[in-house]
Amino acid sequence: MRIDVVTIFPDYLAALDLSLVGKARRRGLLDLRVHDLREWTTDRHRTVDDTPFGGGAGMVMRPDVWGRALDEVLGDGADAEPDEAPGATLILPTPSGEVFTQRHAEELASAEQLVFACGRYEGIDARVAEHYRSTGLDVRELSIGDYVLNGGEVAALVMIEAIGRLVPGMVGNPESLVEESHGAAGLLEYPVYTKPPRWQDLEIPEVLLSGHHARIERWRRDQALRRTAARRPEMIAALDGEALDKHDAAL
Ligand code: ADE
Repeated sequence: MRIDVVTIFPDYLAALDLSLVGKARRRGLLDLRVHDLREWTTDRHRTVDDTPFGGGAGMVMRPDVWGRALDEVLGDGADAEPDEAPGATLILPTPSGEVFTQRHAEELASAEQLVFACGRYEGIDARVAEHYRSTGLDVRELSIGDYVLNGGEVAALVMIEAIGRLVPGMVGNPESLVEESHGAAGLLEYPVYTKPPRWQDLEIPEVLLSGHHARIERWRRDQALRRTAARRPEMIAALDGEALDKHDAAL
């Protein structure tokens, strides 16, 4: 997979050299490139923003600078044949976007190229999304949650990590992707424990020491259901009735 990030703060993305994403880059599984938007400015001050039409506070990022940057970065990675799906996706992190979930991560993990355009200030001139959408490109305006950050860089980091770990070969043990929060079961994950068996006067649930596989499975499922009901009741409401078994109904 190829990932490009365009930003005025390339150093923000330094964390992508670490951990699983960094390892995947070194192993050649992930071709990740970070670009400085100011490379595409044409004036002495390397200006990327201007005042908003219609008035109001703050500055808006100029579409001409973004257009030059994105044409080049998208052109660069567009080496797929026209009939070769899925091609490139342009992602614009913004608090006014659709909320990014594990479903988006799963879908985007099979893209050939992802280009993140990280806005700052009051955002990027709306014509940028409109223009690239009109060319037929898959353009996603995505928010990582209902709060406002200073720019799209941290949101891009979050999405790259969530997507990257689903790219085949990136996670050492793919089984660890099976039972996790927001996975196929539609439940939060059950609590987990390791050694020592006693810590701060706290013991681990006895069933986990029983060696009784079916009882452990039942206990974990009950814990996942209780935890989800307490913390995320809307997830329980969204469960398909058929996904619940007769033991669940007894809870
Ligand atoms: N930029 C600023 N806030 C954001 C958010 N919540 N999600 C994505 N991009 C953002």
